[in-house]
Amino acid sequence: MPVDGLMAAERSIADALLAHYRVRARTLPWRSPPGAALPDPYRVWLSEIMLQQTTVAAVIPYYHRFLARWPTVEALAAAQDGDLMAAWAGLGYYARARNLLACARKVAGELGGLFPSDEAALRALPGIGAYTAAAIAAIAFGQRAVVVDGNVERVVSRLFAVETPMPAAKPELRALTDSITPDAHAGDFAQAMMDLGATICTPTRPACLTCPLSARCAARIAGEAERYPVKAPKKAKPTRRGVAWWVEADGAVWLVRRPDKGLLGGMLGVPGSDWTETGGETGLPLAGDWLLLNEPVRHVFTHFALELSIARMRLDRPGDPLEIAKALGPGQWWPRERIAEAGLPTVFARVARAAMAPRGEDGINE
Ligand code: ADE
Repeated sequence: MPVDGLMAAERSIADALLAHYRVRARTLPWRSPPGAALPDPYRVWLSEIMLQQTTVAAVIPYYHRFLARWPTVEALAAAQDGDLMAAWAGLGYYARARNLLACARKVAGELGGLFPSDEAALRALPGIGAYTAAAIAAIAFGQRAVVVDGNVERVVSRLFAVETPMPAAKPELRALTDSITPDAHAGDFAQAMMDLGATICTPTRPACLTCPLSARCAARIAGEAERYPVKAPKKAKPTRRGVAWWVEADGAVWLVRRPDKGLLGGMLGVPGSDWTETGGETGLPLAGDWLLLNEPVRHVFTHFALELSIARMRLDRPGDPLEIAKALGPGQWWPRERIAEAGLPTVFARVARAAMAPRGEDGINE
């Protein structure tokens, strides 16, 4: 066994990848260049939370804005919940934002502002699972950690031509990633694997000709890189339907604060019926002159697709807020012209755009 614990074949994979990374690493705002001093754990943590289920391109502008506004974990811990949720709007998976704040408050409070450096202690923090703990331990603290995300799974499934279908292959892919992870430069290695998956070893049409691992890749040698990872047949996502109630008075629209728990929890939203596969309740909550827009808004969530019809009406005057809250749900009147500042999640931002389009363009019952 060589000194770093890897067998020769695995060592040559790590060496080839690290050599490639030293010259080809993507320059990303949260990253230290290969071989440089370790980056600030706060920045690594913030970037890794944002990058969960989200592309690098989508994250970059949010990352810059967050860092400019909250440059330290203490600053973030002191943020108002509503400000943070609004700043997160559009990134999706909003539980991440609530956990971000909970984690910042725990680190700034109980941990004296210092992120822990080992995986187990990192995993004990809100919003940090196995992948993120390993990524932070490796990238921010230089610890040997086995970092496995979807990109890494694809790379490894091809390197070793793993025939077990996903997701059953996950433990096997983790063990194989462990077998090629070096003791030193674990952060560079993890990010090199991510870069390879994002730019060369892509889901379709992988660029094997430019891949530093092609000579060692079993799938490539067999001429069938694209066949991996092998997938189990996919279950179709169900479609849920519902109606959004766009109610205006005096140039303002009634927005509701969604319950903390559940989908889009804690975010402002447009009130409406429940979303169900049967379409459910279509009754409207207030008497009045409703206009039903003819195109629903569509949005795909992790576990279902949504078709949200829009019913729009204008009240002569705002009325008693308690009565409105009883009919539409607890919330507030929000000025139409400042709707962009409400921090609406994407699905409701689409509802707002459709509902605020000039009357007659979309409506069927003028
Ligand atoms: N995806 C998740 N973490 C990443 C990182 N540190 N660099 C690039 N892509 C990533």
